[in-house]
Amino acid sequence: MCGIVGYIGGQQAAPVLTEGLGRLEHRGYDSAGVAVLGSRLQVTKRAGRVRDLVEALPKRLAGKVGIGHTRWATHGPATDVNAHPHTDASGTVAVVHNGIVDNAAALRERLADAGVELASDTDTEVFAHLVAASSADTLEGKVVEALAQVEGTYGLAVVHADFPDRIVVARNGSPLIIGVGEKEMYLASDLAALVRHTTTVAHLDDGELATITAGGFTTFRQDLTRTATEAHEVDVDPSAYEYGELAGEPRMYTEILEQPSSVERTLRGRLDERFGTAHLGGLNLEPRELRAIRRVKILGCGSAYYVGQMGASLVEELARIPADAEAASEFRYRNPIIEPDTLYVAVSQSGETIDTLLAVEEIKRKGGRVIGLVNVVGSAIARACDGGIYLHAGPEIAVASTKALTTMYVGFALLALQLGRVRDLSIADGKRLIAGLQRLPAQIEEILKDEDRLEEVAGALAQAESMFFIGRVRGFPVAREGAQKLKEISYRHAEAYQTSELKHGPLALISPEVPTVAIVPDDELTDRNVAALHEISARRGPLVVVTHPEVDLGDLEAARVDVPKNEVELDPILLTIPLQLIAFHAAKVLGHDVDKPRNLAKSVTVE
Ligand code: F6R
Repeated sequence: MCGIVGYIGGQQAAPVLTEGLGRLEHRGYDSAGVAVLGSRLQVTKRAGRVRDLVEALPKRLAGKVGIGHTRWATHGPATDVNAHPHTDASGTVAVVHNGIVDNAAALRERLADAGVELASDTDTEVFAHLVAASSADTLEGKVVEALAQVEGTYGLAVVHADFPDRIVVARNGSPLIIGVGEKEMYLASDLAALVRHTTTVAHLDDGELATITAGGFTTFRQDLTRTATEAHEVDVDPSAYEYGELAGEPRMYTEILEQPSSVERTLRGRLDERFGTAHLGGLNLEPRELRAIRRVKILGCGSAYYVGQMGASLVEELARIPADAEAASEFRYRNPIIEPDTLYVAVSQSGETIDTLLAVEEIKRKGGRVIGLVNVVGSAIARACDGGIYLHAGPEIAVASTKALTTMYVGFALLALQLGRVRDLSIADGKRLIAGLQRLPAQIEEILKDEDRLEEVAGALAQAESMFFIGRVRGFPVAREGAQKLKEISYRHAEAYQTSELKHGPLALISPEVPTVAIVPDDELTDRNVAALHEISARRGPLVVVTHPEVDLGDLEAARVDVPKNEVELDPILLTIPLQLIAFHAAKVLGHDVDKPRNLAKSVTVE
């Protein structure tokens, strides 16, 4: 949430900054701004998109040092004044910030009492005034003094007209990455803004600060003692961040279409066909330790939580270990009991979601063992965990997650397979599941070919103001994810419910105006599911049934969407794919900006 960029070197900073901001716009798109330091400090900022900022930039904006920001509002509405960078009254200091200053109200009051006029409603502005008020004689000293007064989370960057050869940055809870170039240095909150320039990067740790000059960087703690953070090469393919042949299409669409290959990448080199198991070296767990696990607890937020629920089913079915998933955002606040023989699993695309990260830290504080299912290599959650499975989904840019979720599911299947095979899952069942996993890419491809049909279904659903998504057991998290995707980008109300629970209350809402999307796999519950659909149909509720060709719906009046059948344990992921395309086309038909849904942003780095 919120994107930060910075540049110092031999080029004009403004174009480098705005290009970087364009690549980070998915992190926040309420407003954008840059501060460029040349003969003086010049700040331009606008409510709206990066393109609005670019139009507003002065024709001559010379300066080879600068910082920039795309905002997702926390304190104060999206206005020009509330956009970052924020400055002190004299315009000497400029600050961009991602995170939340918890004691902003008290600090604002104290500054106001001291006669400082605050221009904006934001929490960030206090930093600029605190840095300007510091009597320290270095920029590092001023930033440290300001931070000592601040409680909260931050990734922030500061430039100061009296120290034009440097940018000082600090991290506590929000990502900051330094990119190393040839006599020039870059800064960003996300690799996406760096890889075009360099793949030599340094990730700052929480509590760390850095001074960045054109020639290099040094890192230190708040007591000004040096730290040893170094730059390293990251193994990323810069072209993966570009559009390729689908240029012009929404990112979400390209990411949906990429799923056959992203799933293949997650599986690559991890299947042991001979012994019907998975190779997961990154878990850092010996077979003896795997056998000692008595419970699995999965933590994630939003869609990652729903895939976590699918993962818990996989673990229970294949390994016969009690498993459940919980929203990471709630877990930490109920003083959870941390057990030594529970394996905790944090699941996150970005690896930066603060609620998930804080849950990991809480578990570790209490002596628990956590592994991560994470997409972004080197991200905070990946680094905080004791081991894990990298998903290799490739960069996910669209705010609505799709390809990362499918790879999370595959990650859980691999984990469940390994946990199962050191217990009583037979080699034959292990091989059956491996064959099923290997079939997934081609089956996803097949579902994607049915796009015209899904577009038609989406067109009809988009007309309804409100709808249900229902499923049972393995199908329930699929329904939750389907409802989530639809809500997020089409702004239609969609409520997920267990099919079995409908008649305990919500059936009262069924009417010709309220359609239901039902997940009906070919499994041991098919008959019960179909019976429930008749109850909906009898109340003239329109139905869309996402099912398998093997399922006989009899005389039920419904729009039918068939997906290919896999092993029963692996069906949920295939049932999810049509729901992604339905949400996408519903949003498109309603004319929404699919990649930048209102009020949201990619990677929730504030609590
Ligand atoms: C929904 C969506 C969010 C994320 C959630 C967790 O499409 O993208 O619900 O799944 O914010 O994000 P990560 O996986 O980055 O921790």
